[in-house]
Amino acid sequence: MFNRETILIIDFGSQYTQLITRRVREANVYSEVHPHTFDPLQLKDVNLKGIILSGGPMSVYDEDAPELNPGLLKLNVPVLGICYGLQVLCKHFGGTVEAAADREYGKSKLQITKQSQLFNDVKDNSTVWMSHGDLLTKLPEGFEITGKSDHSPICAVENIEKKIYGVQFHPEVMHTEEGTKIIRNFLFGICGCKGNWTTQNFIDEQIKKIKEKVGNKKVLCALSGGVDSTVAAVLVKKAIGDNLISIHIDNGLMRKDESKKIGELFEEKLNLHHRHIDGSERFLNALKGVTDPEEKRKIIGKTFIEVFEEEAKKFDEDVEFLVQGTLYPDVIESVQVKGVSATIKTHHNVGGLPEKMKLNLIEPFRELFKDEVRNVGRELGIPEELIGRHPFPGPGLAVRVLGEVTKPKLDILREADDIFIRAIKEEGLYDKIWQAFAVLLPVSTVGVMGDSRTYEFVLALRAVTSVDGMTADWFSFDHDFLASVSNKIINKVRGINRVVYDISSKPPATIEWE
Ligand code: XMP
Repeated sequence: MFNRETILIIDFGSQYTQLITRRVREANVYSEVHPHTFDPLQLKDVNLKGIILSGGPMSVYDEDAPELNPGLLKLNVPVLGICYGLQVLCKHFGGTVEAAADREYGKSKLQITKQSQLFNDVKDNSTVWMSHGDLLTKLPEGFEITGKSDHSPICAVENIEKKIYGVQFHPEVMHTEEGTKIIRNFLFGICGCKGNWTTQNFIDEQIKKIKEKVGNKKVLCALSGGVDSTVAAVLVKKAIGDNLISIHIDNGLMRKDESKKIGELFEEKLNLHHRHIDGSERFLNALKGVTDPEEKRKIIGKTFIEVFEEEAKKFDEDVEFLVQGTLYPDVIESVQVKGVSATIKTHHNVGGLPEKMKLNLIEPFRELFKDEVRNVGRELGIPEELIGRHPFPGPGLAVRVLGEVTKPKLDILREADDIFIRAIKEEGLYDKIWQAFAVLLPVSTVGVMGDSRTYEFVLALRAVTSVDGMTADWFSFDHDFLASVSNKIINKVRGINRVVYDISSKPPATIEWE
């Protein structure tokens, strides 16, 4: 068993906190984010190598400014403060932070004034990314300045004895030219990390954990065909073999031939034997007459639980566990203390099942980002056609047939969506796009085909680029491409006589229309 080195990232509310976590992991060192209220006493059996304090939007002198928990400094590991993290450290040790005359946003140059281990091999006058309104104006005792910028005479500091380092700029942001090197210097030079957080180590560690947790008991898994649940199932299967019981429910809301293709892939390429349940009629009956998007999501979630529960009961064996593909961003969001955000859309996947069925959860990816799950999948030999697929929402096409969902409308949408996605693949654009799909609008318009008047549906096409689905930009297709897709759809799909392209970004729009 490898000894997992850990870097603790303390979140003071910066928009870049997740980026810090990612940069550290990209250097093969495991890192996890905790809010600034985190109690270090919770750290048990952790091979802690260092702490990074994130930036944040407040001023250290604001009334409810997040404070540094002094317990963190007693853990006797090196600390790196970034922006607010630097300021809160310096305030703690008796330095002075003041509002800057000019707020410093964007690119600046870092002049290295004293060679520090943090700046090993870092070239002088490199570009750094700044985003702050406050400045450090007086150093605490025992600290030394290691760098300055045009607007920050104290831009980088260190206290070698206390193993404390700080920078006013953001090394985690790509615009900081030498950022990766600076983070690596902290991890490997200062914290003494070896970099053993690799996909293979993660897989070995999880297989061991799952075996220990499950023993000879049975584990249930709902296979949706999505990346997370598929990779999770393959991993659990590797750990416990035939004690994994997989069920795939076709809710009738999937894309053209999708359920069938997924079934074949599971059986033939992944050795995931499963029970295939056709629940399409049941889902469609439950959705009859429903037009409200949230209502649709709730009905689909509830029906899923009912069907799953009934099917699971048909197995004689006692089942104690359920596999879920929960990812790290969901975990971080659920522990964040600040900013309780409004529910924009309720995401229903297998939510509600564990409580109802009194099952314990196996969530092997609670610590991973989506691209890390993809890497695990690749390492486990899952074909690229599945790993690289665009995300698909749990409620499926129900949120892409606007208004009431009916089988004829779903069929129209399936054909149109298939033409669009095929064209994107043929054009070599699929991997450049985060998500692309068609939406059937509950609007009919007049058209003319041959010599006849038509009165048929409008179809919207949507394609976006994004990093994490939180924000998105619409994808800029060639006009010729759009024209050709529109022609194909109108010529081939009965029921559509008009195609439009969605040019809204998120925010203010969302990716899905419902
Ligand atoms: P929105 O529409 O909120 O979507 O901008 C962001 C991402 O989430 C997906 N999405 C869902 N995924 N269940 C899911 O599993 C849902 O109910 C759901 N709604 C939206 C959406 O496809 C996009 O990738």
